[in-house]
Amino acid sequence: MASALVELPRLVPGFDRNVSDYKEAFLTGPHAYKPDAETKGTETQPPAAFPNYLPTWDTEKKYTPLQPFTCYEHGKDADPTFPNLLKDAKVTDLTANIGAEIHGIQLCKQLAMGKMSWHSKDFFEERTNFVTWHSDVTYEEQPSGTTFLYLLDGPTAGGDTLFGSQTEAYKRLSPEFRKRLHGLKAVHTVARRIVGFKKEESDYLLKLLFDHIALGQDFQARVKWAPGIVVVWDNRVTAHSAILDWDDGQRRHLARITPQAERPVETPFEG
Ligand SMILES: [Fe+2]
Repeated sequence: MASALVELPRLVPGFDRNVSDYKEAFLTGPHAYKPDAETKGTETQPPAAFPNYLPTWDTEKKYTPLQPFTCYEHGKDADPTFPNLLKDAKVTDLTANIGAEIHGIQLCKQLAMGKMSWHSKDFFEERTNFVTWHSDVTYEEQPSGTTFLYLLDGPTAGGDTLFGSQTEAYKRLSPEFRKRLHGLKAVHTVARRIVGFKKEESDYLLKLLFDHIALGQDFQARVKWAPGIVVVWDNRVTAHSAILDWDDGQRRHLARITPQAERPVETPFEG
């Protein structure tokens, strides 16, 4: 299992928006993060409610490389009607294509599942908004699978998270276009590019796909965080974005639990 509390987009040269300390920490990681402000509080926010879950950046600490393993998806063995899991639960679909709100499950006793459901990171250069669609750690040999995210401390308003179904996004493309996409490979995270394509070709295709994901509000859901909400999604088929829309200095502190999942494999084209 791996956990992360904030995401660390790269430093943005010339970034001059009047953001709070917390959001600078979001943007620049350890260069701006002020532990005392979190543990002792400031004029604009009380001390962190969960200090033991605050992020740390120990540049001296080395971790051994993750070791590949065979991943078995136990969820595939489950009865898809979840008769025990959902026995006392109330399930309400959030949208027609993605997201269900489930009440009445004790997560400490059993795992719950929301029906949430490609891509990598592109951050804030000359951006007019702060929506940054991505899925997590796509560069890993075995990227994250079923992911749990929950709020520890959050702003009174703002800091919602968007989720987008990539399976639904894929279905919306024409069969001929899907056929052309099938089998393509991409370099992830740093120099993002379609392998084998020239730069202009790659840029053109990626922009089309990213726009398709971003503009598909009919396969997106938006979560407004509150204490007690736990969002569960499959990171392999879901894109998400935090919305950095608050600027009054309030803390946004979440915890994430995510397992390494199976390495993506290419399957035959199904149309
Ligand atoms: Fe993320």
